[in-house]
Amino acid sequence: MRLLAAIATLGVAASAAPGQAEEGEYGVLFEAPGVEETFYACSACHSEKLVAQQGLPRERWDHLLDWMVAEQGMTELEPEERSIILDYLSTHYGPDRPHFQRP
Ligand code: HEC
Repeated sequence: MRLLAAIATLGVAASAAPGQAEEGEYGVLFEAPGVEETFYACSACHSEKLVAQQGLPRERWDHLLDWMVAEQGMTELEPEERSIILDYLSTHYGPDRPHFQRP
């Protein structure tokens, strides 16, 4: 019982302030390492809200970036930048959608 309670508490702490819709320096994007790279690479053509609405595993983000380059005219990212952005997206905008933003 006590263990369960501890896990439940952790879960709440990890998802800090659910429903926060304040727009900060990086719009609605969650502030964490990689947010700056992601914001500037992705908000050039469309709102960062389009990004924040997704919840994808890393390989689907990877495909999505390929698609953004191949079909939408995004400039190919440097491998290092791409990896920072993919880490950021898959950590904060993964399938469990910890920072899901309603449109
Ligand atoms: C060169 C312009 C451009 C850049 C830069 C760009 N996108 Fe896009 N993106 C588009 C366009 C155009 C669409 C809309 C395509 C459509 O709906 O037909 C789109 C749509 C999307 C969608 C919605 C896909 C869907 O299924 O509806 C997501 C998510 C997305 N972009 C993520 C990103 C991310 C993440 C980045 C940064 C790494 C990024 N985009 C950078 C042009 C761009």
